[in-house]
Amino acid sequence: MEGRKMKLSTALIMLLIFGVSNQRCSCAIVQFIFGDSLSDVGNNNYLTRSLARAALPWYGIDLGKGLPNGRFTNGRTVADIVGDKVGLPRPPAFLDPSLDEDTILNSGVNYASGGGGILNETSSLFVQRFSLYKQIELFQGTQELIRRKIGRAAADDFFAQARYVVALGSNDFINNYLLPVYSDSWSYDGETFIDYLMSTLEGQLKLLHSLGARQLTFFGLGPMGCIPLQRILTSSGGCQESTNKLALGFNKAATELLGNLSNTLPNATYRFGDAYDSFQDLIDRPYMYGFNNSRGPCCSLGRIRPTLTCTPLSTLCEDRSQYVFWDEYHPTDQANELIANEIITKLGFKPINETNTP
Ligand SMILES: *[C@@H]1O[C@H](CO)[C@@H](O)[C@H](O)[C@H]1NC(C)=O
Ligand SMILES: *[C@@H]1O[C@H](CO)[C@@H](O)[C@H](O)[C@H]1NC(C)=O
Ligand SMILES: *[C@@H]1O[C@H](CO)[C@@H](O)[C@H](O)[C@H]1NC(C)=O
Ligand SMILES: *[C@@H]1O[C@H](CO)[C@@H](O)[C@H](O)[C@H]1NC(C)=O
Ligand SMILES: *[C@@H]1O[C@H](CO)[C@@H](O)[C@H](O)[C@H]1NC(C)=O
Repeated sequence: MEGRKMKLSTALIMLLIFGVSNQRCSCAIVQFIFGDSLSDVGNNNYLTRSLARAALPWYGIDLGKGLPNGRFTNGRTVADIVGDKVGLPRPPAFLDPSLDEDTILNSGVNYASGGGGILNETSSLFVQRFSLYKQIELFQGTQELIRRKIGRAAADDFFAQARYVVALGSNDFINNYLLPVYSDSWSYDGETFIDYLMSTLEGQLKLLHSLGARQLTFFGLGPMGCIPLQRILTSSGGCQESTNKLALGFNKAATELLGNLSNTLPNATYRFGDAYDSFQDLIDRPYMYGFNNSRGPCCSLGRIRPTLTCTPLSTLCEDRSQYVFWDEYHPTDQANELIANEIITKLGFKPINETNTP
């Protein structure tokens, strides 16, 4: 009698274990990336009415076959490099026609869109782009697709194990607050605008948590007053300090927000990836890092500036690895590598195969 009871309870335990493990997904750990042109890997190239596209040479010249691939730089994005170094697959663009359930399960999805902002109204001048709310809406569609493919329990597990990157904010300043055509620039001052961004972002990050995101990194803003486009606006050609101050204010508030969310949302590891200071140092002392130009864009139309995009008519700098900026807005591959390394070091990211909590 006793023996039989034992066997029964053992069976029950086995059933429980297998019952649970059946629901666990032996899926790959993948990334879901939300962002703007700094992380776009091709979405805007499929948005035919978008005015922010990296569809022409010389974008992509230092990646793969050297053809335009939708990245707004000559090579890799910061998210590419961080993911590569952690050992995660590079997620394809959401609008890539070859995207299907198997690709999503093996590689994740990148929803980033040039011009995208935290606010829906940001970059309306670019006509078409995915704002963060829109990107999250597309992610919900992806979740539905995966649930239908592998079932709800396995899908929940898949999305809980995945890594999430959210990297937006500069367009909310450059292509909204700082442009007088937007009503946001009349209604707010720097501080209240940052509060408005934070309350919106808080809602978005909580929404992602409610959808199952547990391990999330938010990439902070760089010294955006030092992008070539902003320098042109100063008489000395120096950085636009008022713009840098906004970026610093945003980063400070976002650090706090991410910390608060990580402490209060169940099972959440939400972190803020900050490379502002080291990027500023690269701009201030390029020679220390093997660069020799941190002021102008590598790709430009000679003295005609600013040109809003790099084009086949533009000329390229002699040595792309010595330039911090690729075009008027975006860093080069080489600068992105420095930024990525800083984020990895600061957050202590380890290769995915060596730890469960990178
Ligand atoms: C932002 O856009 C989303 C759709 O992408 C919409 O659901 C939401 O209501 C909008 N929010 C605001 C504040 O306009
Ligand atoms: C973070 O939490 C602290 C303490 O609860 C609060 O004072 C602060 O306003 C919060 N900050 C943000 C950005 O949510
Ligand atoms: C948190 O994790 C525990 C242990 O894995 C789990 O039982 C619980 O349901 C999780 N809670 C949420 C809200 O995800
Ligand atoms: C930057 O490097 C290029 C190529 O090595 C060189 O021709 C140029 O003189 C350098 N510029 C400065 C400012 O050092
Ligand atoms: C992790 O993967 C990398 C390659 O991505 C490999 O070099 C390393 O040896 C692996 N480490 C372990 C502990 O498997």
